[in-house]
Amino acid sequence: MFDNQIIEKLKSIETPFYYYHTDLLHRTLSKVKELADKYRFHVHYALKANSNDQILKIISGYGLGADCVSGNEVLKALSTGFDASHVVFAGVGKSDKEIINALEKDIFCFNCESIQEIQVINELASKMNKIASIAIRINPNVEANTHKYIATGKEENKFGINMAELNEILEIIKHCGYIKLIGIHFHIGSQIRDLDNFKNLCFRVNEIQEWFTAQNIRLTEINVGGGLGINYQEPDREAIPDFDNYFSIFNQYLKVKPSQRVHFELGRSIVAQCGSLISKVLYVKKGSNKQFAILDAGMNVLIRPALYQAYHKIENITATSSETAIYDVVGPICESADFFGKEVSLPITQRGDLIAVRSAGAYGEVMMSLYNLKEQAQSVFE
Ligand code: LLP
Repeated sequence: MFDNQIIEKLKSIETPFYYYHTDLLHRTLSKVKELADKYRFHVHYALKANSNDQILKIISGYGLGADCVSGNEVLKALSTGFDASHVVFAGVGKSDKEIINALEKDIFCFNCESIQEIQVINELASKMNKIASIAIRINPNVEANTHKYIATGKEENKFGINMAELNEILEIIKHCGYIKLIGIHFHIGSQIRDLDNFKNLCFRVNEIQEWFTAQNIRLTEINVGGGLGINYQEPDREAIPDFDNYFSIFNQYLKVKPSQRVHFELGRSIVAQCGSLISKVLYVKKGSNKQFAILDAGMNVLIRPALYQAYHKIENITATSSETAIYDVVGPICESADFFGKEVSLPITQRGDLIAVRSAGAYGEVMMSLYNLKEQAQSVFE
């Protein structure tokens, strides 16, 4: 990813920064678009993964919809070129202000996660004399082999509505004059590498669809969420995730009725591999039995390793030595959890070297914090 010309350019930029390889983003999007067209799937980009304006403008240029989880994300999607008629709005805790804002903008659909939320949307829509289209987010109780903080499809998670509540919900919706139930929505978790999990989701959705048919309810929209994982271990070997097999599973196993449209909400798989965090080595410090490479970026800039014990490949992109040594690569923040990697083998590393923390395009920049009031990372595009 980093040839000599790029490295020379990066050396002159103040660190830390997120570096985005836009050519890879374009190639990833072309692939997604090609397959979405082939299967007539509707792909929404999950803004939560990365809501950098320039990234969003590129993505909206491919005609994708937007999956938003806050009023500000809805506004951001609209201001960066996404069409309101392709915006879905999810989240367990939509505020009244956010709902009103989305109704004003005439978004495509609210993904609803509780009975009370549906009642509130109905009440607010009635005051505005609008009809809100909704999908019920159903908790499919499907396993997703991923970190427990990012698995969402089991009954113990706060997300979605359990099957047992559906009868009551349908009864309530009958009396909501400003709500139109158009679909069902699912999302089992994120960073899912074993595609069998998605196959199981399809089987479960098919069963749930039968239940709706038995109630004589016709739904036009089936939203299966996102969650396709990426290769953090070897980002260059799999720069574009396996969208072929992913979409083909849904094409093969999901039973779709002729009038129905299938929606996806992909975040990480679209943007993760095009971004790296570039940081400078401030100091190399020897401990009693290890040595630390201390960077000028920490968990304030990229929190994934501290929060999810997430692995990111770490490279010294300016090293000159052919010899290697073992380092704990850590940040400057006053917390022991502030590290990017432990016992990482790197070429002999010195003060001033540039370190790339790879696959940081998703859930990197967006999760930056003001902690310790360290400098924020800027973004750089190639
Ligand atoms: N749809 C819903 C309802 C979601 O909750 C999410 C992610 C997505 C779509 C997009 O999922 P993706 O395709 O990106 O896997 N900060 C964590 C990930 C949190 C994911 C939250 N929901 C991380 O850094 O791993």
